[in-house]
Amino acid sequence: MDLKGKSVVVGVCGGIAAYKVVEVVSRLKKLGAEVDVIMTANAQKFVTPLTFRSLSHRPVVTDMFSDPEYWEIKHVSLAQKADLFIIAPATANIIGKLASGIADDMLTATVVATKAPVLVVPAMNHNMYANPVVQRNIRILKDFGYIFMEPDTGRMAEGSSGKGRLPEPSAIVGKACAILKPEQDLEGIRILVTAGPTRESIDPVRYISNHSSGKMGYAVAQAAHERGADVLLVSGPVGIGCPDGVRLISVTTAQEMHEAVNGNFENCDVVIMAAAVADYRPAEVSERKIKKNGDEMVLRLVKNPDILKTLGTIKGNRILVGFSAETDHLEDNAAKKLESKNLDMIVANDVTMEGAGFGTDTNIIKILKRDGTVIDLPLMSKLEAAHRILDEVRDLVAGPAQAGSKERGG
Ligand code: C5P
Repeated sequence: MDLKGKSVVVGVCGGIAAYKVVEVVSRLKKLGAEVDVIMTANAQKFVTPLTFRSLSHRPVVTDMFSDPEYWEIKHVSLAQKADLFIIAPATANIIGKLASGIADDMLTATVVATKAPVLVVPAMNHNMYANPVVQRNIRILKDFGYIFMEPDTGRMAEGSSGKGRLPEPSAIVGKACAILKPEQDLEGIRILVTAGPTRESIDPVRYISNHSSGKMGYAVAQAAHERGADVLLVSGPVGIGCPDGVRLISVTTAQEMHEAVNGNFENCDVVIMAAAVADYRPAEVSERKIKKNGDEMVLRLVKNPDILKTLGTIKGNRILVGFSAETDHLEDNAAKKLESKNLDMIVANDVTMEGAGFGTDTNIIKILKRDGTVIDLPLMSKLEAAHRILDEVRDLVAGPAQAGSKERGG
């Protein structure tokens, strides 16, 4: 599996099996993951931070109070960027601390601050592992959603045999891949996504456009690809790269976007129009740079085609999803567009709200569906918002019989 673009934070605790985690980090790196290692004070007695640093190619975090080398508040930034946390070897001590909500060092503080899935891989003396208090703490953490791997049974470092050995690094990495790989619930579905602004030329040096960064549409394209969809992205000019595995058609103007979408409409099952298409374009594009003459200038604009509206008239069984960026009467305006453009769903966001709209990495969206359902979502990353939109798309594609019966895991 390719883990490119995934961030894995590995927390290493003070157990003899810490040396095996060196191979876990090495394997994760080979799969393309970005790996950050946090070591407890005791872990550093078994393996040096330099070993992990050499493999991860990143500074190893060992101390909550040292000068920040590259993050301002490390435990918060690592907690936020992680797609997955692995704690290995997880000692009875860290399991007990996490079960009690103690956050007195860099590793525990970061784990408590993260929303990423946490994979705990215990390794300890078999009597310790069997101790009821350890087992109780494991149950508490499992109830909170922590994912545990069973230790292996066999000969332990101190000579005795029993259940408590760290599983093989390949098994730990295999489990990590299974957690990171989203369910392929959009496999076989062809999705056309539009993103970014369009640019409407005034003359060879000037244009009319808008503040769309393309981030929301690109997140939808990436998320759809990760879930197995066949994704075509039609994008206006943006400053971000096309997600791996997604086919890209770059356009500049609304008319070009219209042509690209029309040309590919027949071969898709779903269209998600996240692009901020310019509604108007200059009636004439001057071939020469317009000179500044006088205090005023009048630019005559003509209407661009409403791409989504035209698709609404020929949609057939396809699912059409629109976006509605608003500054006023969010829900009313979005509901009107849903109706007038013959859409199945519209994603509304109030671009005046902090954390929502253009340029940010987060969004606050409402999803309105044709049956009158309104799903009000809180502030979340654009990628997470993309997944929530795609959950609804998946249910719409499946039809009313299946809708509601499937929940996306992870
Ligand atoms: O009517 P309004 O522009 O607010 O509608 C927004 C939705 O319609 C978005 O999904 C946008 O991509 C799409 N749209 C379009 N063609 C236009 C204008 C908007 O497809 N000319």
